[in-house]
Amino acid sequence: MHANRLKRWLALSALLGAARAQPASPGLPSSFPHVYPGMPSGNFSPEWQSYFQVTQPLPNVTFPLGRNWAGNIPVDRPGHPNDTLFFWAFEKQNGSLTANASESTEPWGIWLNGGPGSSSLLGLLFENGPLHIRDDYSMFSNNFSWHQLADYVWVDQPVGTGFSTADSTGYVADEDQMGQDFMNFLANLVKVFPSLATRPLFLTGESYAGTYIPYITKTYFGMENPPVNLSRIAIGDGTLGSGAEFEELPTLTVIETYPQLIGYDQQVYAYFKEQSHLCGYDLNMTYPQNGTFPTLNPPFPNGIDTLETRRKAGKTILFKQSLKQDILERRAGVVRRSTPFDEERLAKRDQWKRDLSGRANGTIDPFYECDLYDEMIDYALNFSLPWKGNDPENGFDVYQIPDALDPEAPMDGSVFLNDNSTRAAIHAPTSKDWQESINYPFNNSNSGIDPSPEPMVFLNELATNATEHGVHVIIYSGNDDSLVSHISSEIVIQNTTFGGIQGFTQPPATPWFGDDGVFAGIAHQERNWTFILVENAGHLVAQQQPERAFVFLREFVLGNNQTGLVTNSSGGTGVSVVGGEVASLAGSVHPGQLGIYVGSGTTQSTYTYPSATIAAWNSFFATVTSQNELATASASGSSQTSGAVAQVASQWWVAAVGALLLAF
Ligand SMILES: *[C@@H]1O[C@H](CO)[C@@H](O)[C@H](O)[C@H]1NC(C)=O
Ligand SMILES: *[C@@H]1O[C@H](CO)[C@@H](O)[C@H](O)[C@H]1NC(C)=O
Ligand SMILES: *[C@@H]1O[C@H](CO)[C@@H](O)[C@H](O)[C@H]1NC(C)=O
Ligand SMILES: *[C@@H]1O[C@H](CO)[C@@H](O)[C@H](O)[C@H]1NC(C)=O
Ligand SMILES: *[C@@H]1O[C@H](CO)[C@@H](O)[C@H](O)[C@H]1NC(C)=O
Ligand SMILES: *[C@@H]1O[C@H](CO)[C@@H](O)[C@H](O)[C@H]1NC(C)=O
Ligand SMILES: *[C@@H]1O[C@H](CO)[C@@H](O)[C@H](O)[C@H]1NC(C)=O
Ligand SMILES: *[C@@H]1O[C@H](CO)[C@@H](O)[C@H](O)[C@H]1NC(C)=O
Ligand SMILES: *[C@@H]1O[C@H](CO)[C@@H](O)[C@H](O)[C@H]1NC(C)=O
Ligand SMILES: *[C@@H]1O[C@H](CO)[C@@H](O)[C@H](O)[C@H]1NC(C)=O
Ligand SMILES: *[C@@H]1O[C@H](CO)[C@@H](O)[C@H](O)[C@H]1NC(C)=O
Ligand SMILES: *[C@@H]1O[C@H](CO)[C@@H](O)[C@H](O)[C@H]1NC(C)=O
Repeated sequence: MHANRLKRWLALSALLGAARAQPASPGLPSSFPHVYPGMPSGNFSPEWQSYFQVTQPLPNVTFPLGRNWAGNIPVDRPGHPNDTLFFWAFEKQNGSLTANASESTEPWGIWLNGGPGSSSLLGLLFENGPLHIRDDYSMFSNNFSWHQLADYVWVDQPVGTGFSTADSTGYVADEDQMGQDFMNFLANLVKVFPSLATRPLFLTGESYAGTYIPYITKTYFGMENPPVNLSRIAIGDGTLGSGAEFEELPTLTVIETYPQLIGYDQQVYAYFKEQSHLCGYDLNMTYPQNGTFPTLNPPFPNGIDTLETRRKAGKTILFKQSLKQDILERRAGVVRRSTPFDEERLAKRDQWKRDLSGRANGTIDPFYECDLYDEMIDYALNFSLPWKGNDPENGFDVYQIPDALDPEAPMDGSVFLNDNSTRAAIHAPTSKDWQESINYPFNNSNSGIDPSPEPMVFLNELATNATEHGVHVIIYSGNDDSLVSHISSEIVIQNTTFGGIQGFTQPPATPWFGDDGVFAGIAHQERNWTFILVENAGHLVAQQQPERAFVFLREFVLGNNQTGLVTNSSGGTGVSVVGGEVASLAGSVHPGQLGIYVGSGTTQSTYTYPSATIAAWNSFFATVTSQNELATASASGSSQTSGAVAQVASQWWVAAVGALLLAF
């Protein structure tokens, strides 16, 4: 997992400099589906249900799963008969998925993980599916599985990922081919489960599915007779904008959310704030939005010198390693001398601070240029407690900022999925082993580089089509994610015209609550676009907050819960917002947790900075953001606030983040 985590991070990072396809790289693996006994001959039909049904026992699964089906289904790409997608479908009620055509109008859902190149079985086994794997590889039943709310299908795609198969020249060339493959897969799937052709489809996914889903939706809108009936799309922590937009621009917001990353140091903050400004990453959202945002500078404005080539050249690695070596040596010495390691660390940090103060001088840093995200991680790993410089891959979890566990819990699906009895039960291929991620989903490159432009470039057109087809758009984020921060999704929304108006006209500021009555985050809805922020969740929202993710799906994706909906008052004198608004929630930074998780595997304790340090930061930061507060206050106009709701939320907020945060 650790190596793979790093690989996924690098794969995403590689996108930052991606402008053109790389030359073809030979030698990608070939795989093909396995033919199990009893496979029907001929075209797909409901007869195939009994072939795909999972009837043999699954290892370690000692609890009832309900009826489920799995296997490979071709994407019908000419010349590539072995190109298939792997699906695993769970029905909500006995008989709900196998209903005859037109017998059901119930919703159904699809879940896609990202990568690019990651298997959606990761989501099934660790986020929102019915069977979950513990750290010791035993299994348990997930009480918050999404299939309890609708028939749900987890799909490995594009071809070649997870248990999906592809011949060595059959990987997708680009996102348009991915979209076409996906539609062809769906056309076959609905022949097996005929009611799915007309039932409302809820297409959901996370991370790089923020690129896949808009392209799939674009393909769907371009078809005269699409095979399914798309109702809504929901994208979590998604890559809708450019690499600079989802990874670099949010750096300052990430630091403001978790000042622990810079040890609550005001000078270091000033340095990152200046770099962010010099790089043109300090976009200001206004409500209503005034004009579109410019295209962001790439992290290396001087051109071809991408982060990836730097990594290959060993420049970053060397830089990191020299610091790492330094710390290791110090630590070894420290242990012998029994001097507290932390003190050495802080002394070293002061040295770095001097370096930074020298550089915060109206110029872009010559080494990192605008790769602020990596600079932040390097800083945290080397100089901020409690992150550990001895293990750069693991000490900082890009997916969940407060997680400094080292090593991480395994989160490894390969033992279960590659077990022969599992494979046989779910009709998986035997020509390949399941991997959580491949870094070669695109035919033309083994570096993870996607040649297609980011969805932002066609989002206005997609939104116009969505309005025409009555397709709702839901965008959600875990507040603790650093890899694809909520702020990038909010900028994408403000930069998109939907329902004839650009962006939201009011800042998201309405609290929503879990079934336990506890504040769960922020909800905002206008003109059939919904934004949901989930409190105390990282990139994998349903893993970290399974119950909140379940309520989110039920209320805001499948349901029509109007919390956060902006409505025009009939007198034309202003707007009101269902569920009210809380001024302290209207800013773009929502303070994270105080305690950083430390230990190995699972959280053994948390590290919290001294309260005086936190208090000093809070009063400093209140002055920094007072300008934003004014902007927000004037934008909020005549909206109403529900007193009771406001009180609950602000109490929670104060309890969670300490005093002096009313500036938000
Ligand atoms: C589910 O329905 C099928 C027929 O559609 C039936 O054979 C089976 O016994 C039912 N299973 C359960 C657990 O109710
Ligand atoms: C579905 O249709 C088939 C014939 O096409 C029929 O035999 C079967 O009984 C139907 N099932 C249900 C649940 O109505
Ligand atoms: C497809 O898979 C079969 C094995 O099932 C193999 O014989 C054949 O060569 C493969 N075709 C391609 C184009 O890779
Ligand atoms: C919008 O719909 C048209 C067909 O009406 C289609 O040609 C076009 O590709 C779609 N674009 C997007 C981005 O959805
Ligand atoms: C955003 O606002 C700040 C503070 O008013 C300002 O310094 C900065 O230039 C603005 N950014 C852009 C891109 O206009
Ligand atoms: C909107 O932006 C334009 C220039 O981009 C500026 O001239 C104008 O003052 C702005 N309007 C508001 C209300 O901020
Ligand atoms: C904003 O949208 C325009 C297209 O309308 C696009 O060219 C630009 O890159 C986008 N900027 C950002 C920061 O998303
Ligand atoms: C930063 O700027 C100040 C003057 O504004 C100058 O004295 C100092 O040498 C500069 N430092 C660097 C490292 O360029
Ligand atoms: C089953 O669970 C045990 C731990 O209880 C684990 O050691 C083993 O690897 C698991 N087997 C599979 C196939 O997942
Ligand atoms: C699993 O199946 C493969 C053949 O597909 C075989 O080579 C291997 O020995 C099997 N492993 C076990 C543990 O049975
Ligand atoms: C809408 O969701 C909220 C959770 O934020 C919940 O409290 C409320 O009961 C839901 N409303 C309806 C009508 O279900
Ligand atoms: C939102 O969706 C509803 C129902 O799908 C539709 O009636 C309404 O016109 C849509 N509103 C906008 C602004 O698109």
